[in-house]
Parts: sequence; C-alpha cells; structure tokens
Amino acid sequence: MNVVPRDLMTEIPVSPADFRGAMRHLTGGVSVITAGRGKDISGMTVTSVTSLSVEPPTLLVSINRDASSFPLIRRHGAFGVNILNADQLDVAERFAGKGGLKGADRFAGARWVTAVSGVPLLVGALSAFDCEVEEIVERHSHGIVIGRVRDVRSSTRTAALAYWHGQYVAVDQDEDAARLAEVSLPARTRRGV
Ligand SMILES: Cc1cc2nc3c(=O)[nH]c(=O)nc-3n(C[C@H](O)[C@H](O)[C@H](O)COP(=O)(O)O)c2cc1C
Repeated sequence: MNVVPRDLMTEIPVSPADFRGAMRHLTGGVSVITAGRGKDISGMTVTSVTSLSVEPPTLLVSINRDASSFPLIRRHGAFGVNILNADQLDVAERFAGKGGLKGADRFAGARWVTAVSGVPLLVGALSAFDCEVEEIVERHSHGIVIGRVRDVRSSTRTAALAYWHGQYVAVDQDEDAARLAEVSLPARTRRGV
C-alpha cells in the first residue's frame, strides 16, 4: 500500500529551483541506459540508477517519459545499464544530447556488443547489465523502471565517472586515497620539516 503523509500534501510546495539546488549536492554515478534492437535503438545518460535488491538481482532507474528510450524500453521489455568509467566522458555527453545526436547516431565512436536481450552494451564500461523489465511505475514526469538483471559484465577498472554540482568529475580510488593521505598528514610532515 502506498502511504502519502497528509501534512506533506498540505505544506507550501517546494519550488523547482530550490529542489534542483538541493539535489546538486547529491553525487551521482553516471551510467548510460540503452534500449531497442538493431537500428531502432536509443540511449540516454542517467544518474538515477540504483540497486533495488540482490536476491533476486534487480535495479531501478528513473526515466523521463518523454525521453526517446522510454517507449523502446516499454515495447521491447528490456534495457541495458552501462556504468561509465572516468575516460568515457564523451559517451556521457553524447547520450545526454550534446551535439544534437539522436537514436542510433549516439552509438558511433564507441564499441558495443549485443546482449542476449538484444540491447547494446558498452565495451569498456565499469559494469554492464542486461535487464528485463519487471515493472514500470509511472509517476509524475517519470517512469520508475524496475529491471531484473539477466546478465552482467564487469571490468577490472575502478576509475568512475560521477556528476556533482552540474559537472562531471572522475572518481579514482588510488588518486583519491593519495589525496586524502596528503590532506590528513600534519602540515610539518608535508613540508618535509
Ligand atoms: C549527468 C546527467 C544525468 C541525467 N540523469 C537522468 C535521469 O536519471 N533520468 C532522466 O530521465 N534523464 C536524465 N538525464 C537527461 C537525459 O540524459 C537527456 O534528457 C537525454 O537527452 C534524453 O534522451 P533523448 O534526447 O533521446 O530523449 C541526465 C542528464 C545528465 C547530463
């Protein structure tokens, strides 16, 4: 049963600008969703992917119902999730619509393999998931798409691409650990005194 607390519904509405401003503080891992088959394909950059359950392996992603991928996901009942590595900034930008490329044209310039479900998966992604649609919950402007993971490919790389405060940032384990060690050291030690 869905419960919406009454006092939440009667309070003064939060403005879109305030909401957007507050959400800029949330760091999001960048993924590309893929959908469709053959030449009838599209994809989009998202930060809304999250794990739903491990057993069974399911994830969810929130997709604007006006996005070109949405009807493809609904029609084919499948989608791919590709977690981008730090070097795949160009892919992120293309699939976010930069340069005006649409549909199959967004896939040029990167290597793809076809998953069992028929959706393209990105070669070199940190992880790539082949998902079967379990349920789509349409709410407001978006659809919450729940996917059962049917296949997974993982790379040994760790440097990830994230989005934070309106810009792409690289998250690299080793570099970040080194930087953390650097700032944690007492100033005297850092200066070699
Ligand atoms: C970093 C980033 C994250 C995004 N996350 C989402 C998301 O989670 N859901 C969504 O519907 N759109 C998201 N978008 C917007 C879509 O990538 C963008 O609207 C895309 O062009 C939609 O594809 P279309 O032009 O083929 O409809 C995001 C954009 C960026 C730059």
